[in-house]
Amino acid sequence: MAYSSEVDAASPFSTTLLGTPVVVWRTADGTAQAMHDLCIHRGTALSLGWIKDDCLVCPYHAWQYDTDGTCVHIPQRTEGTPIPSKARVDAYHCVERFGLIWVALTEPVYPLPDIPEFETDDWKLVMTGPFDWNADASRQVENFTDFGHFPWVHPGLLGDPERPLVPETTVTTEGNVLHYSVVRPEAPNSDDFPVFANEEVVTPERRSRYELHLPYTIVLRLGWGGEKGMVYFYVGQPISENRCRGYCIIGRNYDFDQSDSVLQDFEQTIFDQDKRIVESQRPEQVPFDLADELHLKFDTVAVNYRRAMHAEELDYYHYLDVPAE
Ligand code: FES
Ligand SMILES: [Fe+2]
Repeated sequence: MAYSSEVDAASPFSTTLLGTPVVVWRTADGTAQAMHDLCIHRGTALSLGWIKDDCLVCPYHAWQYDTDGTCVHIPQRTEGTPIPSKARVDAYHCVERFGLIWVALTEPVYPLPDIPEFETDDWKLVMTGPFDWNADASRQVENFTDFGHFPWVHPGLLGDPERPLVPETTVTTEGNVLHYSVVRPEAPNSDDFPVFANEEVVTPERRSRYELHLPYTIVLRLGWGGEKGMVYFYVGQPISENRCRGYCIIGRNYDFDQSDSVLQDFEQTIFDQDKRIVESQRPEQVPFDLADELHLKFDTVAVNYRRAMHAEELDYYHYLDVPAE
């Protein structure tokens, strides 16, 4: 996947999903396309090529692939020789929504979340990151759900070491979506990053309503009891074993005039504080057997995430090609 803004009309974009090289590009009408980033002829990365007549052209010998992945032109072909039927690459499911280009290597298993706030002018969106970590996507998403670390990893920004208790929460699981809410202590807005709407409160509290969409997506709605609200949309791209890329889109219905860079710098600071911790975690992938690691009551979200990943048979790496046990 990619931010929409990363894929321009002129040049193909290279990425990796579940260990598979993927090229994302656009046809002349702007529609996003995705296919295997590997030319059938000599294994060259098609993402190094160019776009012509709504086809992707290999940079080595200029074979042309259409949006289905079928090779439709071979410049070296002599007259009367047909294009071999084997001359094709896999094309993948690809949609563009919420400022992101989404790719699925097989038929999508789950629908994208609904985020009505992101589809009206009453909310302004800021794209932050992306955040490339040497960590498994499961660890990055779990970190996003973890309340207990806020005072210790983000003191003064997301939490206060004097208020370390994690409020109780109840997780309801519906299919691949976990729902839970908390009202939790937060740090007062900092001078460096005045991004929240909790002004003038000595011990502010934040109301957070979470939807965790398995395997690696979160919709978090924040409020402070008034009209002002924030929506965090986090998506983790599983790149390969122990590598992931997090996208975090933030919608707000206030502070439209604030420069995007304030939120972007804030999230860069937060994600960097988390990165060194999460990259150190072993095993690299979240162990989905609850007997591994130690869980306390405040870890209820992590426990439910592990249970749900197991129930949905997503608890093994490369779930496209490794059968469930
Ligand atoms: S390697 Fe792609 S056309 Fe030859
Ligand atoms: Fe964090």
